[in-house]
Amino acid sequence: MESLTAYSAPLEGRRGLLRLDFNENTIGPSPRVVAAIRAIPADHYAIYPEYDGLREAVVASLGGRGLTPAHIGLFNGVDGAIHAIFHAFGAPGERLLTTSPTFGYYTPCARMQGMAIEAIPYRLPDFDFPFEEIRSALGPAGSAAAPRILLLCNPNNPTGTRLAPQRILELAAAAPATLVVVDELYEAFTGESVLPLLLAAGANGDPFAAVPNLLVLRSLAKTAGLAGLRIGFAIGAPALVERVGRVCGPYDINSFAVTAAQAALADQAYVDAYVAEVLRARDWLLKQLRQAGVRHHAAGGNYLLLWPRRPAAEVEADLRQAGILVRSMAGKPLIDGSLRVSLGSSEQMGQFWQAYRRIDGLN
Ligand SMILES: Cc1ncc(COP(=O)(O)O)c(C=O)c1O
Repeated sequence: MESLTAYSAPLEGRRGLLRLDFNENTIGPSPRVVAAIRAIPADHYAIYPEYDGLREAVVASLGGRGLTPAHIGLFNGVDGAIHAIFHAFGAPGERLLTTSPTFGYYTPCARMQGMAIEAIPYRLPDFDFPFEEIRSALGPAGSAAAPRILLLCNPNNPTGTRLAPQRILELAAAAPATLVVVDELYEAFTGESVLPLLLAAGANGDPFAAVPNLLVLRSLAKTAGLAGLRIGFAIGAPALVERVGRVCGPYDINSFAVTAAQAALADQAYVDAYVAEVLRARDWLLKQLRQAGVRHHAAGGNYLLLWPRRPAAEVEADLRQAGILVRSMAGKPLIDGSLRVSLGSSEQMGQFWQAYRRIDGLN
């Protein structure tokens, strides 16, 4: 632990600003979530949380069909799930296989377990998924040298790269000795997930029967707007979910998160409307970027990368002065010099674009 550094993100002083820096929901959760939290009687704060019914609600929201509550792991955010997965499966000398650049919390979790990390770069110029390289790094099926964990973020944060769900299932089937984790935090913005394929193939049997080494991560943080409450799910074969659950405390998820999750899952229409609004705003912003000749890259997810003419750190600082937060990708392989801009409502994207044009000297 001496050699570790804490995962740090610039998380303070963000309230009151236009937050396009963490890919959060920019307008807040469903009013039904707010009402449900307000309705919690104060004496319930004194009681340990109860999780009954939440796994069932997740199953129902995913369409049932062979999924059972035992397929659903509940975690303190997907971050909590990632930490637990590495704790449960990682060990010194084992290997994490992943891509680069990707979400920043995978590698510190691997390091905590003393694992070696192999991060395969996306393919320039369009940040395509390095499928052949990942396939060969998995080694032959059953190989003793197979990586312990393959972590795929799909669509990838921050490049937005999409890998067809069918290909993920191929990788999982080809590497039975490797735990394949698909972080689908942003799947709502592409509609591409391994789950519908598995549910259709399972036809009311265990959807994970053919891929008992696959875990799918989902969160209510981004689309449903519950980032501050911390609730995430890992979905996979019951034995796998049970094993990850062994390294968690009995009350790691608090009662507010449980109540909020129930209400959010019951109001899918709110999430669908938010996603549709973000996609509309995305189309509009992409048009402006193209017309203004700004180098950018947008694929999956509620975010895009853009390369300002001025130094990115200065543009980031000037945007902050204008009340808008974006995330500099300084130091990240392949995308150093870019800014990651989260997508919000049309009005918010209009506000961003007006400030950006002025700050980066476009006209
Ligand atoms: C790819 C990815 N996975 C996981 C997380 C963490 O999600 P949660 O808020 O559910 O812990 C994030 C948050 O930025 C993310 O981008």
